[in-house]
Amino acid sequence: MAPKVFLVGAGPGDPDLLTVKAARLLRQAGIVLHDSLVDARILALAETAELIDVGKRCGRQSTAQSKINELLVACARTGQVVVRLKGGDPMVFGRATEEVQALAAAGFDCEVVPGVTAAVAAAASLKMSLTRRQVARTVHFLTGHGAEGGMPAHDFAALARAGGTLVIYMGGQTVGGLAAHFIEAGLAPETPAVAVENASLETERRFFGTVSTLPRMVSEAKPEGPLLLLIGVALEDARHAEEVLEDAQSE
Ligand SMILES: C[S@@+](CC[C@H](N)C(=O)[O-])C[C@H]1O[C@@H](n2cnc3c(N)ncnc32)[C@H](O)[C@@H]1O
Repeated sequence: MAPKVFLVGAGPGDPDLLTVKAARLLRQAGIVLHDSLVDARILALAETAELIDVGKRCGRQSTAQSKINELLVACARTGQVVVRLKGGDPMVFGRATEEVQALAAAGFDCEVVPGVTAAVAAAASLKMSLTRRQVARTVHFLTGHGAEGGMPAHDFAALARAGGTLVIYMGGQTVGGLAAHFIEAGLAPETPAVAVENASLETERRFFGTVSTLPRMVSEAKPEGPLLLLIGVALEDARHAEEVLEDAQSE
């Protein structure tokens, strides 16, 4: 039987970055369970669906994951087309595995529809390749907080040694500790860093600095939307390119 439950990526916010398949499924859905961060213009596509806000926002969670799993199974039992709509890509810091497993345990198959994850949306805004020949050979997607909300137990020395681009999700609250850990682990304090708030939306803001100035940049910016932190030598070019363009346009 064709699966009736879809775990769908809503992308980073800009409705134009939704996949064609996601848009089609939203139009067909009977029930949409969505994260709070999903843009209203995207939800508006689900004209005939019952919308259920399961409340995840910026990594905070107002509905326990176990409750979301139960709700998803209950929705699947209705036999309607069910869309579980998640910010960005469902498979990146989205706890999708738990939802897939809960559905499977109840006998329901599902299909996963990828979305544009925040890291690539931010890279596009910055016009910065996350990888670059000779300069950034690796990309790491990292969580900015541990299971209980404190510092994550990363191998900071190994990440610093890797010398690639570090992309930190959910790091707005722990940015001070993260920067200190990276510098202590050997990352040069002057390593370029960027914070991107609301990547892809009209309200997007970008802050350029270094890993040592990143905590001050973030605390001064007082971001209210989702924030992504990017650290790495490849970012130097992004800042430079923006400055060159601004200078050329002002001449
Ligand atoms: C629980 S994670 C979910 C990530 C999502 N599954 C994805 O693929 O982008 C939430 C975090 O993603 C990042 N994020 C999501 N959307 C963003 C955006 N539009 N701009 C900047 N960061 C974003 C922020 O770091 C936020 O705290």
